[in-house]
Amino acid sequence: MKVSRRSFLKTSALALPAVTVGCRSSLSAIERTPPTRPSALSRVNLAVIGCGTQGFANMNGFLQDPRVRVTTVCDPVLSAGRYSYRSEKTCGRAPAKMRVDEFYKNEDCRMVADFREVLADPSVDAVLIATPDHWHAIQSIMAMKAGKHVYCQKPMSLGISEGKEMARVAKETGVTFQVGSQQRSSSEFRVAAELVASGYIGECMSCEIGLPGGNKGMYGHANSICRELWRAPDYFTPEEMWDMWQGPAQHWEDNSFIQGIHDPMCWRFNSRTGGGMITDWGAHHLDILQWTLGMDGSGPVAIENMVHDRDPDDRIFDWAANYSFDVVYANGFRAHVTNKLPNGLKFHGKKGDIFVARGKLDRPEFLKKWNEKKDLKGRDVHLYRPRGGVSHEMDFIDAVFSGGRTACPCSVGHRSITIAHIANICERLGLSSLKWDPVAERFPDNADANRLAVVPHYNGWTI
Ligand SMILES: NC(=O)c1ccc[n+]([C@@H]2O[C@H](COP(=O)([O-])OP(=O)(O)OC[C@H]3O[C@@H](n4cnc5c(N)ncnc54)[C@H](O)[C@@H]3O)[C@@H](O)[C@H]2O)c1
Repeated sequence: MKVSRRSFLKTSALALPAVTVGCRSSLSAIERTPPTRPSALSRVNLAVIGCGTQGFANMNGFLQDPRVRVTTVCDPVLSAGRYSYRSEKTCGRAPAKMRVDEFYKNEDCRMVADFREVLADPSVDAVLIATPDHWHAIQSIMAMKAGKHVYCQKPMSLGISEGKEMARVAKETGVTFQVGSQQRSSSEFRVAAELVASGYIGECMSCEIGLPGGNKGMYGHANSICRELWRAPDYFTPEEMWDMWQGPAQHWEDNSFIQGIHDPMCWRFNSRTGGGMITDWGAHHLDILQWTLGMDGSGPVAIENMVHDRDPDDRIFDWAANYSFDVVYANGFRAHVTNKLPNGLKFHGKKGDIFVARGKLDRPEFLKKWNEKKDLKGRDVHLYRPRGGVSHEMDFIDAVFSGGRTACPCSVGHRSITIAHIANICERLGLSSLKWDPVAERFPDNADANRLAVVPHYNGWTI
């Protein structure tokens, strides 16, 4: 399978026309369509775009909802084994179709390699976008313009310019949009946020946020494989589907395939396709920070005290493995973010601390018996909670029917992930601090940072 760059270039050059033709020209072929809302009696026809690790997880959530019919699965990968975070899963459109057909006990699920076919299908009401981060903006924007409701995985953008445009298009089209920041639909995070925001631990003085660290192939396997130039594996069938995986990301030299670079434990750590752990997990915990502080729709004014260990010579794993920085708000409130603390958020109040993580809520003794159902008073802060549904997916479907809001709309998710992007730009520029203007959504005094806020798109793809 190992090929020389030259012979690879030959094969990939042959494949190129199909892809380049496909870019801008066929974008316009998908008609701009207003979103439709299914009637109370009908089902939401949902297509899954990106049948990888999280795509399967969300798809399983949607399959459980009797108001949804998963009609289509889409992935440029036909079927690839030894995938996922511990190389234990099989991903791709074929296993996804198999899962859906097994569930519905028929063979109806449509299987496509090119997501533009999904967007051109008028029978599809909504899409789940669970592709790698470099695809989120383009696929979401195209889906919204085609009138599809969108559940887009976090981090919803690869950079600030993308998020701004996504939020603009979401507003313009009026589609239902849920960012996959599902912690907003988990009661432990909501209760923690309501307790802090309502003043139950006294004035909140600061927050500490623990995110995962690491890169270089978390869980071991990726570092050794993400190094060599190979020909793309056969499961990118037809062959140009490796280009469909890369999409708007800059190609590697000679359009070669770096073995393993498409593995979820590799692409996250490369700046062409991901933002490292600061965006990957920052998307979750910075979102809870914003929610708790009542800062949805706005943001901090600076990143300060940035320290990191990014290796400037590593072109594959080109985000830091270890990092810490402060997120500073206009009123002086500071959240310290680092990979050296336990995963979760600890709010320090004058009367005590609250620590929240997935499935865990530690509170001071005097709040141990606090019960959200009977103790949250009328004057307290009541945060959004999913209506009838209990899951983030169901919350999305509720909103598709009702036209109401979701737990994490596009404009909200955009502001949360913007913080992570600012931190990454600060890191990339080698600065210890960087000012941000949350009203103008730009860096007030750094032209280089404003340049890095604009995500470049390659290979004919554009927003
Ligand atoms: N909310 C959460 O807790 C959570 C957890 C894990 C991952 N995620 C997010 O989900 C997304 C996917 O992550 P993952 O870990 O599942 O990655 P993954 O690599 O396992 O899956 C991505 C899938 O998208 C496919 N894909 C690539 N290009 C495509 C295209 N043009 N059209 C259709 N499919 C395409 C890939 O072939 C792969 O099967 C990421 O944005 C990630 O941050 C969210």
